[in-house]
Amino acid sequence: MTATTAAQAAYIVAALLFIFSLAGLSKHETAKAGVVYGIGGMVIALGATIGLATQSIVATGIALLFGAMAIGAIVGAIMAVRVEMTGMPELIAMLHSFVGLAAVLVGWSGYYEVEAKGGHPAEYAGGLLRIHHAELFIGVFIGAVTFTGSIVAYLKLSAKIKSNPMMLPAHNWLNLGALVAFVGLTVAFVVKPNLALLIAVTAVALALGWHLVASIGGGDMPVVISMLNSYSGWAAAASGFLLNNDLLIVTGALVGSSGAYLSYIMCKGMNRSFISVIAGGFGNEGAISQDKEYGEHREITATECAELLRDAASVIITPGYGMAVAQAQYPVAELTKRLRERGIEVRFGIHPVAGRLPGHMNVLLAEAKVPYDIVLEMDEINDDFPATDVVLVIGANDTVNPAAIEEPNSPIAGMPVLHVWEAKHVVIFKRSMATGYAGVQNPLFFRENSAMLFGDAKARVEDILTAL
Ligand code: TAP
Repeated sequence: MTATTAAQAAYIVAALLFIFSLAGLSKHETAKAGVVYGIGGMVIALGATIGLATQSIVATGIALLFGAMAIGAIVGAIMAVRVEMTGMPELIAMLHSFVGLAAVLVGWSGYYEVEAKGGHPAEYAGGLLRIHHAELFIGVFIGAVTFTGSIVAYLKLSAKIKSNPMMLPAHNWLNLGALVAFVGLTVAFVVKPNLALLIAVTAVALALGWHLVASIGGGDMPVVISMLNSYSGWAAAASGFLLNNDLLIVTGALVGSSGAYLSYIMCKGMNRSFISVIAGGFGNEGAISQDKEYGEHREITATECAELLRDAASVIITPGYGMAVAQAQYPVAELTKRLRERGIEVRFGIHPVAGRLPGHMNVLLAEAKVPYDIVLEMDEINDDFPATDVVLVIGANDTVNPAAIEEPNSPIAGMPVLHVWEAKHVVIFKRSMATGYAGVQNPLFFRENSAMLFGDAKARVEDILTAL
């Protein structure tokens, strides 16, 4: 068996493991196995690719390859160990930007390998050379859009820049103009490739990526992450075509299509139009944040909250990003256990975009060993609030904001939310009256049946445990 056939066989095994990995990751129970399949697939893919590369490159090249991999592995391991669960989305955004940058570099080196040398007649006979021109150009375009788009997503998610949508005048026309320019430049490059066109498409794509994500508002950021995940997949697939690497094409297509599907599901969950989000906030023009007066809020102490809970027959807990920040999942799990021992029905209501990444709350609750069967999705529990005595909103804000239903001009208008205000009593755990991720005031805090329990969520839940 030649090295190439062995590598092809290894690639098929790796591709199958990646498919098993995706299937595994779709359920709690099998998620760990999914991760193991993914790691296995990646080890096989790397091994086969390095094996193949060592056949054709010189010793210095091999030394460089291993050197780069060692540095990358060390930096990656340090970042993975250091990152907090709450910092995951921005880390993911940053990693997507690397995929985009890699695709741009692969495209540019493809240009210097082939086009700049006038093409390789033997390898690229007939129409193949033109296909190479197109692959290269499209790969650079997708890669550059992913690169700057992911950087803006990183900056927004890590609060280094404001998450408000940037609304340039005629922003939809700017996006459309960039796409038209891309098509025109591609045709010109296929006809007569040259460096000026490559520079032009890179510049247009970098600006478009930046503009697309900058135009998307805070509340829609979850979709942006999965959308950039999808773009990074297509960028990798484009590099696969250019490098003639089947596994990269398959893996890129898997990431690209699963990311696109995830974006679609999230858009449906948030009642957003898929097209409007991928087109960089198309149709957001009517959404204005309003500084409305809602009146006074009421406060409650941990002891009073404990009394409310003691008298309750049914309790729903709706966690949000603040539970992750406070790491309150352990005392929350303990509180759940204690209340259930007293015969009180306790369930969790999980909003699809609670926290900062898909499934964030589910992961935290599973970590604290909260039984799966009392953790319900928003749609499963939303009709049960009127018959509930007490709702504990633990560090959630946007996901329980009635303005999404009642205020058509709100930036989060139309987003489905947990109807917590329909319960008899609502206790909101947070540190101040500050807004949530979308930067929108929450009228829930001022309702008659609502009370604020200020302070760090973990400390306050522990106070309730002591009072109980
Ligand atoms: P948010 O609306 O982000 O609100 C979280 C609240 O937690 C804040 O109002 C904050 O108030 C409070 N908090 C923070 N630290 C706390 C602590 N230590 N103790 C107690 N409270 C604390 O949360 P949410 O309801 O989960 O909504 C998620 C938002 O993030 C949505 O807008 C969503 O679109 C967006 N987003 C989601 C994702 C995904 S995929 N899930 C990704 C990106 C963005 P104080 O500062 O007053 O304490």
